[in-house]
Amino acid sequence: MNNKNSRIFSGMRATGKLHLGHYHGVLKNWVDLQYTNECFFMVADLHVLTTQYERTKDIEQHAYNMVIDWLACGVDPSQTTIFIQSQVREHTELALLLSMITPRSWLERVPTYKEMMEKLKHKDIDTYGFLGYPVLQSADILLYKTKYVPVGEDQLSHIEFTREIARRFNHIYGCEDGFEKKAREVIKKLGNKKAALYEKLLIEYQQDGNDEAIEKARYLLDDAVNLSSGEIERLFAFLENKSRVILTEPEALLTQTSKLPGLDGQKMSKSYNNTIFIREDKDSISSKIKVMQTDPARIRKTDKGDPNKCPVWQLHKVYSNTTTCDWVVNGCKSASIGCLECKKPLIDSIVIEQEQFRLKALPFEEDCNLIKNILEDGAERASAIAKHTLNEVKEAMHLTYNGNI
Ligand code: TRP
Ligand code: SF4
Repeated sequence: MNNKNSRIFSGMRATGKLHLGHYHGVLKNWVDLQYTNECFFMVADLHVLTTQYERTKDIEQHAYNMVIDWLACGVDPSQTTIFIQSQVREHTELALLLSMITPRSWLERVPTYKEMMEKLKHKDIDTYGFLGYPVLQSADILLYKTKYVPVGEDQLSHIEFTREIARRFNHIYGCEDGFEKKAREVIKKLGNKKAALYEKLLIEYQQDGNDEAIEKARYLLDDAVNLSSGEIERLFAFLENKSRVILTEPEALLTQTSKLPGLDGQKMSKSYNNTIFIREDKDSISSKIKVMQTDPARIRKTDKGDPNKCPVWQLHKVYSNTTTCDWVVNGCKSASIGCLECKKPLIDSIVIEQEQFRLKALPFEEDCNLIKNILEDGAERASAIAKHTLNEVKEAMHLTYNGNI
């Protein structure tokens, strides 16, 4: 796994069965990424608690089913690390440590916070845990020194938040003790004239961002023959106001939101009750599509239709080849095919895709120990990396208690 390009981390809350919108929007992307990158995919069960703390008995089942859906779609446990958030304790611990340096105003400003508070008015989610949602998510990402986080647009503010927390952490804890004092001592060694010039350039660069100043300072330091290379390094670092990078800033990898419409033409979403699930049976798919909405202007078979006004056509665009697509467009516009006829090849393609999902899922459905093993293995692998980062964090925060009083 070590020769893969970049480390990638993503997570999904375990809230129930996944549907084709998840497949086309998120999971296909995960599957593509897993062969060339080192991927970590996490079941965010603790995040479920932020909104559903009073109803926890379904979480385990949801988590297992969600993992089966991932595997059904082609996420491959021999290529990726799949694990459950609460099984890697470092997530909880780093989240707590980060919460100490998180300004409350940053949390209150996160757009998803206000939106969700408004949307879930009927629920009492005015809790510390819900406000801290992005802190926990930051811990998830930062523990793995993640380079890219594939997410949808709705999560961008959380990634930005993570970057800000990482920067704040490095700023607070990344400075070596006595860094400034040591630098000042070296400056004195430059002699009065050069020291004054260095100070002037330092201010120009740090306050005004003047890049020329840093160039000039480089010349100055190159000439400082009485300084050791270590001392010159120190002055460079001081000039750039660098602190040690302990937590690395991740970047979002924006996943195109799925264009897959639901059965009613709106976006496919569980809350609209317009979904086709991953691992749904043939008859149920067929009957759902048969009653699916079509171009409202096409009341009788003899009425000419417009595919662009029909959600069935949107699905054809995802599922059918060009020949079928041409057949749909021509047949619809000329009223030479009926809507049921038009839906037939679509049903067939979706059913074939589902058969592949089911085939992959079958061994796991039959023996839930297989999932348990994958998750244990994943937690172990994740934990090895998470522990390492958490140790660095605790060292930087002077929380290691290794007897140096
Ligand atoms: N908040 C994400 C969502 O609702 C789930 C999530 C939790 C996540 N931790 C993460 C996503 C870390 C990416 C990285 O979709
Ligand atoms: Fe939609 Fe096909 Fe009917 Fe045209 S023929 S309205 S594309 S279902």
